[in-house]
Amino acid sequence: MANKPPVTLEERGEGGDGRRYSPSIARNREAIRDALKAHLTLPARVLEIASGTGEHGAFFVDEMPGLDWTYSDIDGPSLESQRAWREASGSLRLNGPLEINAADANWGEAEQPETWDVIFSANMVHIAPFAAATGLIAGAGRLLKAGGMLVLYGPFARDSLIAPSNAAFDDSLKSRDARWGVRDLDRDLVPLVEKAGLRLDAVIQMPANNLTVIFRKV
Ligand SMILES: C[S@@+](CC[C@H](N)C(=O)[O-])C[C@H]1O[C@@H](n2cnc3c(N)ncnc32)[C@H](O)[C@@H]1O
Repeated sequence: MANKPPVTLEERGEGGDGRRYSPSIARNREAIRDALKAHLTLPARVLEIASGTGEHGAFFVDEMPGLDWTYSDIDGPSLESQRAWREASGSLRLNGPLEINAADANWGEAEQPETWDVIFSANMVHIAPFAAATGLIAGAGRLLKAGGMLVLYGPFARDSLIAPSNAAFDDSLKSRDARWGVRDLDRDLVPLVEKAGLRLDAVIQMPANNLTVIFRKV
């Protein structure tokens, strides 16, 4: 475990009860909540891929009655934090965590077609090898209900155009791991998404040159 590469770029806080805290989630959770509220039809069952600390799910379940949220990740310490957030929340609408590698062709317990209204993933596709993005999109095609949504949050390029802050971020990601990098929404992701039976539905500009992107299963 000591030799594993870090799964995040920021210093995370710990509260002593196993819950971890991410400074970036403290900054982005309200804006993502607003984007979700504007596009979700409740009740909805959400599978989160790469839940990290688990704060997004705990916050959104509190903010949106009718939302049922299942955590997942590949990283042991992140799974422990998600478990701690679920226990501290006490909400019966917070589930998991499931151990899921997005790159895998089979997501184990989550392989329940016609169950998931939404698959949500924040800040994973640029901080993981591209196979995680292809697996995530394939999973959305395989498991979402018709009309269901794949929701991604993070930095993206658009048709080869990239904000200067995201270009600098891309350089720093690649210097840490050559397989990481800010993805081009239109060139890298949309063709895969369309092949998986979804279409680009909405692109919502978020603070700090991030986007919330909504793909809908046709
Ligand atoms: C930067 S953190 C983002 C966590 C959280 N979603 C957030 O917004 O703070 C990236 C997360 O992706 C997870 N991850 C990386 N590769 C993955 C993969 N192939 N499948 C599932 N999760 C993965 C890491 O374990 C980590 O929790």
